[in-house]
Amino acid sequence: MESGLTSIQPSTQFQLITNTMDMIVAISGASGRTGYRIAEEALDRGQTVRLLVQPASKLPPSLSGCDTRRLNFSHLPQLVEALQGCHGLVIATGARPSANLLGPFQVDTQAVQQQVKACKEAGVARVVLVSSLCSGQLWHSLNLFGLILMCKGWGEQALERSGLDWTIVRPGGLKEEETALEQKELVVSGANTQQQGSIPRRLVARYCLECLSTPSTIHQVLEITSKPRRP
Ligand SMILES: NC(=O)c1ccc[n+]([C@@H]2O[C@H](COP(=O)([O-])OP(=O)(O)OC[C@H]3O[C@@H](n4cnc5c(N)ncnc54)[C@H](OP(=O)(O)O)[C@@H]3O)[C@@H](O)[C@H]2O)c1
Repeated sequence: MESGLTSIQPSTQFQLITNTMDMIVAISGASGRTGYRIAEEALDRGQTVRLLVQPASKLPPSLSGCDTRRLNFSHLPQLVEALQGCHGLVIATGARPSANLLGPFQVDTQAVQQQVKACKEAGVARVVLVSSLCSGQLWHSLNLFGLILMCKGWGEQALERSGLDWTIVRPGGLKEEETALEQKELVVSGANTQQQGSIPRRLVARYCLECLSTPSTIHQVLEITSKPRRP
């Protein structure tokens, strides 16, 4: 048994929280464009959120009253403390485009590895990771930015090998659009089945929360894009 986990098996532990109102959902990268939407959607569902962000991260006004933990993600004890008492974590951190070609390794690999370790130590058994279509692929133009797809693949591996109740969500190209979302339908498939396509970040946010509360998505890699709903 990993340190920090109780004698209850992880999946059982999560399912005991039958009322989502009782759940404390941690969201890392909540200052990001997907992360803040995950937090907003969780609040809409009546869930209690805890935002894990960097010391200088900027949050939108909609999240101003939330329990917010500012920390250095490379400092394991800070992460463990921030996660204490949470029932699940949605990881929405990701390297922002920059001239730092080590960014993807530092964020999409190392910061994810750290969060996985911290979940095990803090006894947070349920984790949803926002990754990317084509994660783990070497021959892809997106890798011009610090081998980002390889880095995401290594981050995913850490989670898959963790013993936690994980779900990996791999969205296509992320869009800012917020209108007419009801006219879109999700295309969801298993690992390495979609190569292209896009999806509004708001729909990714909703899907991650669906996964968090759906035990059948545990130990699944799910690729998601969206398309116009058929009339
Ligand atoms: N862009 C796309 O089309 C696309 C497609 C598929 C998947 N994805 C992935 O989907 C996820 C969400 O993307 P997004 O565009 O919505 O995110 P985003 O707006 O770029 O936000 C990234 C988040 O990660 C945080 N972050 C960056 N470096 C960090 C570090 N060293 N330690 C801790 N937190 C750090 C940022 O914090 P600060 O606010 O402090 O910078 C921010 O909260 C990412 O993993 C991204 O790679 C993106």
